[in-house]
Amino acid sequence: MTARILDGKALAERMRADIAAKIATLPYRPGLAVVIVGDNPASAVYVRNKERAARESGIAARTIALPATTAESALLALIAELNADPATDGILVQLPLPAHIHAQRVIEAIDPAKDVDGFHPINAGYLVLGLPALVPCTPRGVMRLLAEAGTRLAGARAAVLGRSAIVGRPVAALLTAADATVTLLHSRTRDIAAECRRAEIVIAAVGRAEMVRGDWIAPGAVVIDVGINRGADGKLRGDVAFAECAAKASAITKVPGGVGPMTIAYLLENTLEAAARRRVAAMG
Ligand code: GUN
Repeated sequence: MTARILDGKALAERMRADIAAKIATLPYRPGLAVVIVGDNPASAVYVRNKERAARESGIAARTIALPATTAESALLALIAELNADPATDGILVQLPLPAHIHAQRVIEAIDPAKDVDGFHPINAGYLVLGLPALVPCTPRGVMRLLAEAGTRLAGARAAVLGRSAIVGRPVAALLTAADATVTLLHSRTRDIAAECRRAEIVIAAVGRAEMVRGDWIAPGAVVIDVGINRGADGKLRGDVAFAECAAKASAITKVPGGVGPMTIAYLLENTLEAAARRRVAAMG
């Protein structure tokens, strides 16, 4: 079997055009504040791309770049200001933060109604309970790619590799809400290959280059690769050994050009949703 390639780049472009068209009809401009602390080069690229995409869609976006030496108290004070600013609908603090800053404290300082990353425990809790919430962007992108592949989720066996708060756990919650039978695999799982082979849907989010091999994939499975690993050669690799797995799968994503662009599209969508919900809430 030769897998169909799920083109996240093209899908994200269509979504961004739709979002821009929607924003053009609104009587207000949604506002997004992106905060970056320090000079992690990968983070700098991500943040630049996020701000550019937001502006192109008509969102009033600004990046606030703080030095690596910024005190946690100063970052918390900035977040309090952004929480109180009526023009700011969405707040995103790029992770990772410098080691002297307690990331969880920072995430919990963000107004859950402005938490466009969906990382606040209030939003994470609603998601697990199957209640309306701001849902993390990458997991939303994964679900959309599965929909695009025409994947039947109800009753399907899904293996999620990796239990991070940003991807693995929320993806598992979304798949569960969609009636899949979810197995969350991680570094302590016994015989991860055998677990993976039972799955009709495989979501790889472990952060280890090409860990998922062809013989881990059941014939006809749908494979979504969330990994972005930069090798010593500077090349980006996913968590999935692409050629081997594409030979087994019915549909598969590439790295780059798969999940990554979808994350940005859903950041814009979440900002739009936060802006709309805040206005409904303000009307009481
Ligand atoms: N670092 C890696 N992925 C993300 C993300 O989706 N949001 C934020 N804020 N930081 C990240």
